Amino acid sequence: MSNESTAKIFGVAFTLCLVCSLLVSTAAVGLKSIQEANKVRERKVNILKAAGIYDEDASVDKLFQQIESKVVDLSTGEYVDIDAVTYDQRKAAKAPETSVAIKAGKDLAGIGRRAKFANVYLLKDGDTLKRVVLPVHGKGLWSTMYGFIALAPDFNTVKNFGFYEHAETPGLGGEVDNPNWKALWVGKKVFDEKGEVALDIVKGAVSASDIKAVYKVDGLAGATLTCNGVENLILYWLSEDGFTPYLKRLAAEGGKNNG
Ligand SMILES: Cc1cc2nc3c(=O)[nH]c(=O)nc-3n(C[C@H](O)[C@H](O)[C@H](O)COP(=O)(O)O)c2cc1C
Repeated sequence: MSNESTAKIFGVAFTLCLVCSLLVSTAAVGLKSIQEANKVRERKVNILKAAGIYDEDASVDKLFQQIESKVVDLSTGEYVDIDAVTYDQRKAAKAPETSVAIKAGKDLAGIGRRAKFANVYLLKDGDTLKRVVLPVHGKGLWSTMYGFIALAPDFNTVKNFGFYEHAETPGLGGEVDNPNWKALWVGKKVFDEKGEVALDIVKGAVSASDIKAVYKVDGLAGATLTCNGVENLILYWLSEDGFTPYLKRLAAEGGKNNG
């Protein structure tokens, strides 16, 4: 058969495609467990960062031993007897039997449904709670942004806030990842004297003379729409529909023995 014959050209092309697809699928299957392990590690790193104990020179698994992982029923604020290590709140939010639809008027985060139960992470010193880390997510301009907010044991002061996944525009909405912006959140208060969520991202810079400055964070220039999304997801997740029942319960227990 000559090299120019149509049958030979198709034969070679077919064999090449077959070999390549075998190589790609073998690599995909073979690397799946590594990818899964990397995902788990990445999540732990983000929780450790939110808890304020991440150290790039230390073993992530060892550091994570300081974190108590729990699953909480958002409607009651009580812990549920579910394995916190394997519970996947993002997966649960997609299935009708493990999630609830959010009424349109209440859906500030623009997510449609939320899981009935949420992962929460506690950093403790003995019996004393040091920080509580809560997962939050909501719509930005282009994407759903996923992050963690860490609160002090007064359940009001922000210790850390940041996103670990989003697809906002680099240099605009993507500036939510800018360490300088994230630093502005530390020390801010979530709830006002009436217990209402008061955190507010303002357009421009917060005036130093503003008596409500403790609730306010500078907006990102050219990214008002993403900032609106950030503010709204905080409003949602720290509302009665989100973590408020849980935070109230922790506060009633005085930040102690709440594991
Ligand atoms: C290509 C492109 C990407 C943009 N990406 C974002 C973004 O990620 N987040 C955002 O809030 N605004 C983004 N904007 C800008 C918005 O359309 C809007 O102008 C901006 O949010 C207004 O913010 P400002 O009031 O601070 O100027 C983008 C605009 C363009 C043209």
